[in-house]
Amino acid sequence: MSFDFDTIHPRLGTGSTKWNRYPPDVLPMWIADMDIAAPPAVLQALRERLDQQILGYSVAGPDVRDAIVADLWNKYAWRVQPQDLLFLPGVEPGFNMALHAFVQPDQPVVLQTPNYRPIRLAPGHWNLPKIEVPFELLDGEYLTPLPALRDALAGAGAFLLSNPHNPMGKVFPREELLAVANACLEQGTLIISDEIHAELCFDGRRHIPTASLSDEIAQRTITLMSASKAYNVAGLKTCFAVIQNAEIRERFNNARCGMVDSVSPLGLEATRAAYSQCGEWLDALKHYLQANRDYLLEAVQTRLPGVVMHAPQGTFLAWLDCSALGLDDPQQFFLEQAKVGLSAGIEFGDDSQQFVRLNFGCPRALLEEGLQRMERALRTR
Ligand SMILES: Cc1ncc(COP(=O)(O)O)c(C=O)c1O
Repeated sequence: MSFDFDTIHPRLGTGSTKWNRYPPDVLPMWIADMDIAAPPAVLQALRERLDQQILGYSVAGPDVRDAIVADLWNKYAWRVQPQDLLFLPGVEPGFNMALHAFVQPDQPVVLQTPNYRPIRLAPGHWNLPKIEVPFELLDGEYLTPLPALRDALAGAGAFLLSNPHNPMGKVFPREELLAVANACLEQGTLIISDEIHAELCFDGRRHIPTASLSDEIAQRTITLMSASKAYNVAGLKTCFAVIQNAEIRERFNNARCGMVDSVSPLGLEATRAAYSQCGEWLDALKHYLQANRDYLLEAVQTRLPGVVMHAPQGTFLAWLDCSALGLDDPQQFFLEQAKVGLSAGIEFGDDSQQFVRLNFGCPRALLEEGLQRMERALRTR
């Protein structure tokens, strides 16, 4: 079966966060949702759910739980039980709940930089100190400096991991992930593993859930996953936590504190359909995104002189180093001169002012339009 990822779906005026931020002459390539239609099977499941005509408060039944349990086994050989799953309206509320539930005052939270802004902001929401450990760049690969990580973890309350990593698209290989997880175990640090981009790995790479590494690691890990990125249903605000330690699960659930509610019937239905009926669609999407990644990489190398990009190993996000351009503010430059709305590097790390993040989860024609605009702006500056 073939799927269409090339059609441009006009999103102006649809209440899209992405398309609402800037004036209509700006092409938005910032926030992490795709300009690609959700899978036909998800849309059909939603239509059928609407036909029931009643949209009351909902719980996750065996159908959605079983679909996820089977998917985690099929994709990652990770065996979890239906009762290990808790449903939440987002991964961001999930890692905030975890910090609130488990980290004592004055215990630092450790995370790697650059990193997704809400991860960087989370410790501050709970007045917790944070230690940022920068990745090291070696031969085009971002690597975890283990000695620095170990130092940071001494006395820490939690380690907040992003894998596959936003913004660099790093897919942690087993050896590195194991070393990171073991460093946390040695210190008794809770691992909060944000795996929202899990499905989107390129070049035959496979995502490894942190908790699947060993039973011991699983007992210290809260995993956060969602259909929202890979199946492009982020607006349905539905995610799930996988917590195999019953005590941690209960304490985490109690941290909803009347602020983090149950999820919607449409979100649950989309999640069920995504995990049980969209395997072929997902394979085709990954193929398309990987080709977009390659197209972008080639274009950056040949048409955007001064911009450096290392091929992301997953996600639909590219992390562009604009240092050689000598601009005060690359995000502002591309916004004003190219009319392309990128994410500013400074959001991801204090040392990332010279970076921008570009979202290539879009039809190829839109990607090309963005590239042409950026190329022209660089040529005429
Ligand atoms: C790494 C990462 N975590 C969490 C989120 C947000 O997840 P949610 O919308 O489920 O809160 C995003 C969205 O871009 C993300 O990239």
